[in-house]
Amino acid sequence: MRIAVFRKAHFNAAHRLHNPKWSEEKNKAVFGLCSNPHYHGHNYELEVKVTGEIDPETGFLINLDILKKLIKEHVEDRYDHKNLNIEVEEFKTLNPTAENICYMIWQNLRPHLNEKYGLAVRLYETPRNFVEYPA
Ligand code: NI
Repeated sequence: MRIAVFRKAHFNAAHRLHNPKWSEEKNKAVFGLCSNPHYHGHNYELEVKVTGEIDPETGFLINLDILKKLIKEHVEDRYDHKNLNIEVEEFKTLNPTAENICYMIWQNLRPHLNEKYGLAVRLYETPRNFVEYPA
């Protein structure tokens, strides 16, 4: 029997959406307010979903304390109160859209989670705009 466990997390971060190959006008037309050269912030809300089988010895799918620590170390400590474009290695060359941030969170967590678990990440950039990986 497969079951899912969720853990929510939160971080604040600044970003700017920008394609260096494009003119200022084109960046403004495509990315709108998010292309502001002086950056702007979002309150990101994260939901991490782990799936698998219940361990008969503990009754847990995964110890949530372990999941909490993984998210803190690999997401919150790296992104919270940061300028993503300038301070976070992966976004020096990758546009920090909600899609790319969500995918990178999945990439950063995956190696630290036992292979027996499924992993999905949902990231809210605003209460109404959110993305999920894998789709
Ligand atoms: Ni933005």
